[in-house]
Amino acid sequence: MKTQIVSIGKEDTFALTEQKLLQAGEIIKQGGLVAFPTETVYGLGGDALNPESSKKIYAAKGRPSDNPLIIHIAELADLDKIVEEIPKKAQLLAQAFWPGPLTIILKKAKVVPSQTTGGLDTVAVRMPSHPIASRFIKYAGGYVAAPSANRSGKPSPTMAKYVIQDLDGRIDMILDAEGVEIGLESTIVDLTTDVPMIVRPGYITQEALACVVGEIDIDITIYDDHSTQAPKAPGMKYRHYAPKGELVLVEGERERVICYINEQIRFHRERKERTGILGTEELLARCSADSIKSAGKENELSFVAKQLYTFLREFDDEEIDYMYAECFSDKGLGQAVMNRLLKAAGHKVVKV
Ligand code: TXA
Ligand code: MG
Repeated sequence: MKTQIVSIGKEDTFALTEQKLLQAGEIIKQGGLVAFPTETVYGLGGDALNPESSKKIYAAKGRPSDNPLIIHIAELADLDKIVEEIPKKAQLLAQAFWPGPLTIILKKAKVVPSQTTGGLDTVAVRMPSHPIASRFIKYAGGYVAAPSANRSGKPSPTMAKYVIQDLDGRIDMILDAEGVEIGLESTIVDLTTDVPMIVRPGYITQEALACVVGEIDIDITIYDDHSTQAPKAPGMKYRHYAPKGELVLVEGERERVICYINEQIRFHRERKERTGILGTEELLARCSADSIKSAGKENELSFVAKQLYTFLREFDDEEIDYMYAECFSDKGLGQAVMNRLLKAAGHKVVKV
């Protein structure tokens, strides 16, 4: 299949952009697939109400079909049709955080095919704030099922070049535009129980959610690799975002972390293995490796969030065998950053 790559630049007139988005929307209506930018990561879109489109999404990504898709909408009024009911807490969260990087899980209406929800009777819904995403969704008929636009197992793409790397030749169109600012996927909250539960941490923090709905739980399997329970979001059970080499997180007092990393790097160098470090400026000033990824200054968590997936992909491109990353705070946005890092590392953490 030939994939059309369509760039939408700031210099494009409104009318020209509309024309491109109209064409992209038509592809979705006819059962095709279009990758598009959102404020979190690029999504791989298909018609959420067409079971054949969902099947195509799974095939293009190489994703197991028991892993449900998020339905993206452009208007709050469109939520009604795809869910059985909208509980009060869902209304409050939607009012507070939509459009934006929050996904809510509700009981699904019959119109949503089970192929889209991986056989579940619930559906995940999100209203993105990226203006291109929202205009595209409208042209596509209002309901776009979209997982992250990466091949299964790869980090979610934050730039069109990574979508092209993963999906060129497998989908109809890739929309390339700026504005993928957050870099980590949306926070997902399950609202089918009395006390809402975070099933995937993201840019909208637990604290921010609690301010709106009061008590809120977090799925314990997110941090506990040894839990015998299945995660509430089926996708969280897969070892995502994994670089090809081995990534180890190092936790402890700064001096000891520096000492440990330098020792490891020396060991690998003797074996002619390629090494990488991901850490704050404060740490990098005292360590060296074949590839250095700066997480900015301490307490700049949104910078790490935005760069993380790019760093992981770059480590692969640079054929790094062993990577060491500093542990960041797990408060606020750190909850999401540490969740993704732990997954990338397959939960390998060395305490020094
Ligand atoms: O920011 C995002 O959410 C991005 C952009 C493209 O919007 N999308 C995204 O989709 O990250 P995906 O498919 O890569 O991740 C969706 C996650 C998976 O872990 C899936 O298991 C979970 O959401 N999920 C979807 N529907 C669910 C449901 N009904 N119940 C529980 N988990 C669900
Ligand atoms: Mg994904």
